[in-house]
Amino acid sequence: MSADLRSAAERVARQAYAPHSGFHVGAALRSARGQIYLGCNVENAAYPVSSCAERGAISAAVAAEGKDFKLHAIAVVALNAQGDSLPVTPCGACRQILVEFGADAEAGFSAPDGHWQTVRVGDLLPFRFILPDIGSR
Ligand code: THU
Repeated sequence: MSADLRSAAERVARQAYAPHSGFHVGAALRSARGQIYLGCNVENAAYPVSSCAERGAISAAVAAEGKDFKLHAIAVVALNAQGDSLPVTPCGACRQILVEFGADAEAGFSAPDGHWQTVRVGDLLPFRFILPDIGSR
């Protein structure tokens, strides 16, 4: 994964609205077309309404490229309120979202031991839900 994606994720993590958790997350993705899209977490006093950085980036990509958007790579960075790096991996719901757009895409993040880890998106979510073909809709 190129360093520019990781540094873009770190920059956008500083934009996060995370007053409730103090966990500022940024996601930067590259589409198959080579464009970069960004997202950060946006929290809410009603906690479950909060949205994750990864989903923000995916929404920006789909808004720009439409239904043909394909995920090539995504970097996820988390910072505390002081700007120090924290470990993060995409949550379960975001894994399901990411895999829809690119099971073979590369995901990079800080593993629990602090090192930068890259994995195949499909490997983050074995036995994921796939909508079976149920004929005409
Ligand atoms: N969060 C993300 O934005 N992405 C992740 O991959 C993990 C969690 C956010 C959601 C919430 O605003 C905060 O981090 C703490 O869970």
